[in-house]
Amino acid sequence: MTKKNNDIEITAGKPIYGGKCLSEYEGKKVMLERALPGEKVVAYIKKKKKGYIEASAKEILERSPHRIESECKYYPTCGGCKLRDVDYDYQTWIKEEVVRDCVERIGKVKDYKFLPIVKADNSSHYRNKMEFTFSEERYYMSKDEPFDQDNFSLGFHAPKFYSKVIDVEYCYHQPELLNEIYKSLRDILKSSGLEPYNITKHTGFLRYLVIRITTENNVMINLVTKSRELDIISSIADQLKSKHPEIISFMNTINKGLSSTAYGEETILIQGNDIITDFIGDYKFEISSNSFFQVNPDQTHKLYDKIVEFAELKGNENVLDLYCGVGTIAIYINKLVRSVTGFELVEEAVINAQKNAELNSITNCKFVSGDLMNLAKEGEIFKEIFDIIITDPPRDGMHPKVVQSIIDSGVSKIVYVSCNPSTFARDVQLFEMGGYKLKIVQPVDMFPHTYHVETVGLLLKQ
Ligand SMILES: C[S@@+](CC[C@H](N)C(=O)[O-])C[C@H]1O[C@@H](n2cnc3c(N)ncnc32)[C@H](O)[C@@H]1O
Repeated sequence: MTKKNNDIEITAGKPIYGGKCLSEYEGKKVMLERALPGEKVVAYIKKKKKGYIEASAKEILERSPHRIESECKYYPTCGGCKLRDVDYDYQTWIKEEVVRDCVERIGKVKDYKFLPIVKADNSSHYRNKMEFTFSEERYYMSKDEPFDQDNFSLGFHAPKFYSKVIDVEYCYHQPELLNEIYKSLRDILKSSGLEPYNITKHTGFLRYLVIRITTENNVMINLVTKSRELDIISSIADQLKSKHPEIISFMNTINKGLSSTAYGEETILIQGNDIITDFIGDYKFEISSNSFFQVNPDQTHKLYDKIVEFAELKGNENVLDLYCGVGTIAIYINKLVRSVTGFELVEEAVINAQKNAELNSITNCKFVSGDLMNLAKEGEIFKEIFDIIITDPPRDGMHPKVVQSIIDSGVSKIVYVSCNPSTFARDVQLFEMGGYKLKIVQPVDMFPHTYHVETVGLLLKQ
């Protein structure tokens, strides 16, 4: 019986986007979570939708040979990793299959070249930025976990719980140095008596902790609090700095509001500099506490090298860099082209991009702020003629109006960088209907142990 909450015995089919397997039960399609292809599982039905069922495995009857022991005691409850108990080669095979499935099933693309995924050399300790949440309400992962008298929790939101946080002492995503600093700061804060935030009552002081590390092991801390208590934060920063001289920036963001984000009304410099400097290839970038910056530095230059390879730059091209963030792609390719024009929604990122260009003595890149959907509607993107377009949209992909304006421009070459293969495939179909052909697809693993995958695609005008 396929009723909600009923258990079914099912064999997991091929992997599809979102960490799921496409399976079948009594002639109905099942999107099955928490199972690997080929595994026989008992799953409970989460939702019945028109045409398919959503189910989640709760017991594995026949294990995949690719399952391994996870070294992390918070896995899988914490939700930060979905594949930590799967061997790395198989993780990357899953990602390849997911990208291929999206391109062929959603994008309806035929006759294209699919390149093997670019794997990561380090599948753990790769992230250069981490965000942790404070809470007065701890999520207990098991009955054996000792009760915390202090009501202090710092870690990750428990899936499906609005207010509860899993108390995390160590995270395999972050480099060892960040784990050490995280532990010291956690100990200082826990013994300080400062109250963690309670999201339901909107009480407490400590809200979020954002830590960044550069490739040269310089560290920036941003403690997000509900109110302005600069003396207290300064004393915490001093205590931490005395143990960890690698900290070159200590910031304090004040978020008095109800929004559950690590952004706030003001960000105050407590100690050191208000920026840290990092490198991609030979180029340096100034990063402020709120800037977007690629989180896996080992893989970023591999991703950007693929963009360069697909674009086959000759040196005389005028390039359009859509969704340019802090200008990293534009700056990375500046010497290989005549000019780059970047467009980006976030004004602060555009200011960073301009500063980054100056920092690297670059004069052939310019950056424009605005919402690309509006700029496309108003005909503002194609005031100049471009030879190549590089586009790197957020997870939702490109607005159809932006896709249409590119098609109307008649540009001959598009390099599409995507962090969501399903919206990539959807947009590729629009480009193919508009007279372009997807020639090559290259998955890149920027986020080991998660189901996320980056894709680079080359589209040529036919
Ligand atoms: C995946 S990031 C790419 C950043 C950059 N290319 C890089 O490699 O670091 C996507 C960027 O698109 C920007 N963005 C999101 N929606 C946008 C919109 N409607 N118009 C312009 N930019 C947008 C985001 O602020 C973000 O910087």
